[in-house]
Amino acid sequence: MSTAAAIAIVIGAVVVLAAISFLTLARRSDVRGAGALSGETVDRDQRNRAESRAFEAEATRTRTRTAEVAEAEGTASRGQGTALAKVDDEPALVPWTPPDPEALGVTRRQFFNRATVTLMSAGLGAFAAAAFVGFLWPSGTGGFGGMVPVGKLSVIKDGIDQGGGFFYAPEARSWITEYPSDALPLARTVYPDNLLSTMEEGIVVLSQKCPHLGCRVPECSTSQWFECQCHGSQYNRVGEKKAGPAPRGMDRFPATISPSGDVTINTGIVVPGPAIGVNTTGQEAEGPHCTGGGEH
Ligand code: FES
Repeated sequence: MSTAAAIAIVIGAVVVLAAISFLTLARRSDVRGAGALSGETVDRDQRNRAESRAFEAEATRTRTRTAEVAEAEGTASRGQGTALAKVDDEPALVPWTPPDPEALGVTRRQFFNRATVTLMSAGLGAFAAAAFVGFLWPSGTGGFGGMVPVGKLSVIKDGIDQGGGFFYAPEARSWITEYPSDALPLARTVYPDNLLSTMEEGIVVLSQKCPHLGCRVPECSTSQWFECQCHGSQYNRVGEKKAGPAPRGMDRFPATISPSGDVTINTGIVVPGPAIGVNTTGQEAEGPHCTGGGEH
């Protein structure tokens, strides 16, 4: 996956998660309004208020009866009068009012809303951190999409001979074929420098992916061309388009060859194939075609 694609995916994920968070919070306020009490809570509050009023009325009646008893008994005893006065002097009972659960805690809806936002925020943060680390991490070597070592140049050339003119490097999803030295003067007028250095060493590295619609292009041992089975596009042995619906020649990968002869293909860079009509080698079909093909 290219860096641009990874960044696009990260941005898309951030936008989607932000939209979900926004909709969750908006729904919370749309449903009943922030801080609104449920019907169950309102009923409970009304019951509590009625019980409080009844309790207060009972306390008032009790005080009234006590005062009446004291009045009826007169001043029979100073000690008694003092005791009754103490009763009257006691502070009035304050009815207990149960605390409002809405004020003490959170409702179930608030809990789920906060949990949703918290989890989304944590997930978003972790995803962003992972994407950031992945973006900064040096691109891997050895896997497709990065630098792929495919062996010694001498071994690859032997492989081309043994493969009837074609060497397949599956780890790089590439074909490697011989590039004739007598075609180099013309190639230098067509191909960019990052491809020419490898061609001057006698090989060309081609993407296996057909530039038409992406099928894997197989070699044709009889014609010594590449011939796509999907829609019949045909390319000569160095990937220059000969026939079919493809819009250009086969795409290429730059490669480096170390002083010790180790070949490494940079599969992170795709160089578009040459335009239709480019034919630097002049190679014609060397036998029967493997597909119908045809000029387009
Ligand atoms: S995908 Fe190869 S010719 Fe269409």
